[in-house]
Amino acid sequence: MCEPSRPSGIVLIGFMGAGKSSVGRKLGSLTGWPFVDLDAEIVRREGRTIPQMFADPGEPYFRQKETEALRSLTGGESLILATGGGIIGREENWSLLRQLGTIVYLQAGWVTLHTRLKCEEGRPLGDGHQGWEKVEALWRRRLPLYQQADIIIETEGLALEAVAERVLEQVRHWSGR
Ligand code: S3P
Repeated sequence: MCEPSRPSGIVLIGFMGAGKSSVGRKLGSLTGWPFVDLDAEIVRREGRTIPQMFADPGEPYFRQKETEALRSLTGGESLILATGGGIIGREENWSLLRQLGTIVYLQAGWVTLHTRLKCEEGRPLGDGHQGWEKVEALWRRRLPLYQQADIIIETEGLALEAVAERVLEQVRHWSGR
């Protein structure tokens, strides 16, 4: 029996601040495929921000919306998808991610992520209010999950254009195209 071939899209995973949205947008312009930012898609559908959803009705609601948004993208055209950092937490999300294409983990160290997160707002699980050591512990707990990606791209010291080019090169190599 033949294995069904994997779809040709590219799915970016990684912790908050890893550059998934910026690299995804760049990949969209390099490939000509539509770029979808899953968080932005959820916010658009819900008509409220992620901090609002986390505050009420709460994180489980957001996670449900995240899975629903992901499911709605399957079965369509090839796309570049930037996911939220917590997408790797639900087993059912993995099979949906696989249906969308090659899963690429954008890897960055804690110092880099922390430096970026300190300067940004709007991430209920990625700000210093609850203490940065809690955010770092979350990052550490998630590392083995991110590492289940098809491809791991080390992004430290690379400009986003260079990261995007490396992603394309590795995806082509991996998928034999
Ligand atoms: C989250 C990451 C966020 C967003 C939400 C939860 C997480 O996305 O989905 O705030 O659990 O890591 P980014 O990774 O794009 O910041």
